[in-house]
Amino acid sequence: MKKKEPKQQEIKQKTLIRKPSKASLTLAAKLIQQGNLVAFPTETVYGLGANACDPRAASKIFVAKGRPSDNPLIVHISNEKQLNQVAQKIPAIAKKLMAKFWPGPLTLVFLKKAIVPDVVTAGSSTVAVRMPKHPVARKLIELSGCPIAAPSANTAGKPSPTTAAHVYEDLNGKIPLILDGGKTEHGLESTVLDLTEGVATLLRSGAITKEAIEKVLGKKIRIAKHTAKKVKSPGMKYKHYAPAVEMILVQRNTTQLLIDATKKLLKKYANQGKNVGILCRTEHTQFYRQASQIIPCGSDQSEQKLALTAQKLYAALRQFQPQQVDIIIAEGFPYKGLGQAIMDRLTRAATHVDKK
Ligand code: TXA
Ligand code: MG
Repeated sequence: MKKKEPKQQEIKQKTLIRKPSKASLTLAAKLIQQGNLVAFPTETVYGLGANACDPRAASKIFVAKGRPSDNPLIVHISNEKQLNQVAQKIPAIAKKLMAKFWPGPLTLVFLKKAIVPDVVTAGSSTVAVRMPKHPVARKLIELSGCPIAAPSANTAGKPSPTTAAHVYEDLNGKIPLILDGGKTEHGLESTVLDLTEGVATLLRSGAITKEAIEKVLGKKIRIAKHTAKKVKSPGMKYKHYAPAVEMILVQRNTTQLLIDATKKLLKKYANQGKNVGILCRTEHTQFYRQASQIIPCGSDQSEQKLALTAQKLYAALRQFQPQQVDIIIAEGFPYKGLGQAIMDRLTRAATHVDKK
């Protein structure tokens, strides 16, 4: 029989938004200790946190987000002692990676200890752990005195929140408190790396590039193939990051071919009487005057500019509304450096990828 999934909760409680202060952090920690949820900023995206060792608290996350129960949560820690509480068998490569990237946007998957409840790991014998860098996230974990399980603080399927306003948009009435730490630094989620099989395997590309990891390890890492049959990271099989309207992602090998193909699609849909939204590099807005809405989103001319694209991406996707556009056409990015994570998210957000 098919397992019944939790429905997203109806609005019933008041959601406070508070800037981080001694008082708001104390309140947040108290809520976590009492088994409630708190949304908080990290350097990647906002997280929706609960005490990772309290199954009843963690299960509230799935209800608030409307998240499928087979998609496990990342456990956030603020010191290495907490890593030993939740994980067993820390391999030598983990130590190398932790020394370089922790605190920061790298999530490592280990064999779990019994203290981590099944609801957090979706019944798996492994646990994903990350030590965030954001001072508010760190302070919240410290004051709560427990590891905090937290997925991104969005409604399941939508783009992850990079501001407190995005969290409010999705979870108003469903959680008691949002700590507002402003815009998040990276704008894309952490990189997820599995270390339980002897060879490091990339489960989700993210803010730390594959190249940066390989440089530290001095060797190539394996890239997990997410097929319908065998999904190593359960989150990868669901529709994700999707804006409120249909989106076509255009992928070409040169900038000129990309502009030409995007223009052609724009013309096609505009001629059908559709209001077209365009997501493109800032320097390309001039080419798409026929569009009803153009959201410029960074550039790929340098790694720094690509980082700005990543930072703005989810906010850009959230800006397109069905009242204004019928379809979105998005320019793709090269699969290099951060471009890999950007393309991973755009591909998942898209209804269709147009490539030659
Ligand atoms: O940057 C981030 O990672 C943000 C912030 C809040 O820390 N969190 C985040 O969580 O993106 P979430 O739940 O949206 O994505 C977690 C991903 C999912 O793809 C999930 O399937 C995978 O990590 N994951 C969690 N536990 C796992 C495990 N034990 N084995 C394999 N994959 C796991
Ligand atoms: Mg998420």
